[in-house]
Amino acid sequence: MTNSPFLTEGDDPQLFSSKLISSEVQEALPDGYTLRPLKRDDYSKGFFEVLGQLSVTGEVSQQVFEERFDLMKRMGCYFVVCVEAVDEIVACATLIVEHKFLHECGQAGHIEDVVVSDTQRGKKLGIRLIDQLKHMAQALGCYKVLLNCKEHNVPFYEKCSLSTAQVQMTRYFDRD
Ligand SMILES: CC(C)(COP(=O)(O)OP(=O)(O)OC[C@H]1O[C@@H](n2cnc3c(N)ncnc32)[C@H](O)[C@@H]1OP(=O)(O)O)[C@@H](O)C(=O)NCCC(=O)NCCS
Repeated sequence: MTNSPFLTEGDDPQLFSSKLISSEVQEALPDGYTLRPLKRDDYSKGFFEVLGQLSVTGEVSQQVFEERFDLMKRMGCYFVVCVEAVDEIVACATLIVEHKFLHECGQAGHIEDVVVSDTQRGKKLGIRLIDQLKHMAQALGCYKVLLNCKEHNVPFYEKCSLSTAQVQMTRYFDRD
């Protein structure tokens, strides 16, 4: 059982409720493009082909995809949004809601894995995805959104009304 109107339960194939989809952002998309939550049966809809244009996806079977989907749904803090056109996913992005002790036990929204298929770039799908993530973050009670990106993508995120703050530090670990 969930106690949020924005989460889905049981056999619902959507990762989260469509109530979180902004009608304004949907209306701003080109005709024939639909903004929606990731679904459990999206494995064969080109999701990994799009994600693979951002970074290495590795080999992921349908079963492993579904197990990861189920985990994200149970956790209730993962919001993967997709743009679909002609039955294929052409863009996607993720909001992760971090529950903090700081800021009176507030929430921060982490923007991750933003990618538009290379055949679909320049149609404002990227900016719409970020608008949708900002909409969800506010609806879910976040006091800020934040992300890491490559230097060359800074102008894109500035067009999305985000600004540079602080620096990223990272360390990658070897895996067996
Ligand atoms: C970055 C990315 C998501 C942009 O998506 P897109 O749909 O092509 O972008 P949009 O059409 O919404 O562009 C919105 C505005 O940003 C500008 N813009 C987009 N990418 C840009 C870039 N890399 N540098 C400068 N400006 C950029 C566009 O020209 C447009 O400007 P305008 O409003 O003045 O016309 C897309 O290029 C992509 O998927 N890249 C590969 C994956 C990646 O790097 N993701 C980001 C991970 S942090």
